[in-house]
Amino acid sequence: MRIGWAITGAGHLLDESVSVMEDLAKDNKITVLLSNAGEEVLKMYGLFERVTAITGGYYRELALENDQSFSYPISGRFSLGKYDVLIVSPTTSNTVAKIVNGISDTLVTNSVAQAGKGNVKTIIIPVDMESGDVETILPSKLDLESCADCESCEAAQSCPQEAIIAKQEIDLLKCVGCGNCQNSCPFDAIKAGKLITIHMREIDIENTHKLVLMNGIDVLKHPKEIKDFISDLL
Ligand SMILES: Cc1cc2nc3c(=O)[nH]c(=O)nc-3n(C[C@H](O)[C@H](O)[C@H](O)COP(=O)(O)O)c2cc1C
Repeated sequence: MRIGWAITGAGHLLDESVSVMEDLAKDNKITVLLSNAGEEVLKMYGLFERVTAITGGYYRELALENDQSFSYPISGRFSLGKYDVLIVSPTTSNTVAKIVNGISDTLVTNSVAQAGKGNVKTIIIPVDMESGDVETILPSKLDLESCADCESCEAAQSCPQEAIIAKQEIDLLKCVGCGNCQNSCPFDAIKAGKLITIHMREIDIENTHKLVLMNGIDVLKHPKEIKDFISDLL
């Protein structure tokens, strides 16, 4: 099976999406398409290398938004029907809002539009599904209350990206989620994977409902549902 898998800039369901993608890559050709935010967020959560590891070769490309310039030529493959399915997981509220309004101005939204034109089945896993509160996971974070304000910050020195502004915060745009800082700080002031509760906005839930009604698009709740769903497509 030829699969296009797009990742947008959501931390929620990101790790779960990458795990399913790795599993499917064993028996299928997967082209990975990253929105700019998708690329940044994958790095922040230390998952970028796992994604690059499954790419390489024809129809196994890693397509980055910036490399695709303004017209996203790789998305033409979807309008030509070259893929069996396009999966977008996880999908930010931003990308869902654009899709339901017919906007296609990013690598991911353009790929969804082209898939519609080429009759390529599209599966979308939105992060904002139902009203209410949702627990989600944070990338590395410096806890100022635990920080002992050491004269020489061991965590900052251990960071190959120079991403730690000691005694202030982590520059997430430099962080690649390697975890060196967490292991180096003697006061345990840096942690990754903290759970926080966020509240779903009604507009995002409404947009997800609109997505469910769109032709050619199937909305799933969780990446773990993808495998069974695409086996039914064969
Ligand atoms: C650490 C981090 C986690 C994020 N997680 C989410 C998320 O779970 N859901 C969401 O809708 N946006 C999330 N965002 C915000 C998006 O990345 C942002 O709206 C971005 O512009 C989306 O662009 P895209 O839809 O083109 O990928 C997150 C941002 C950061 C920095």
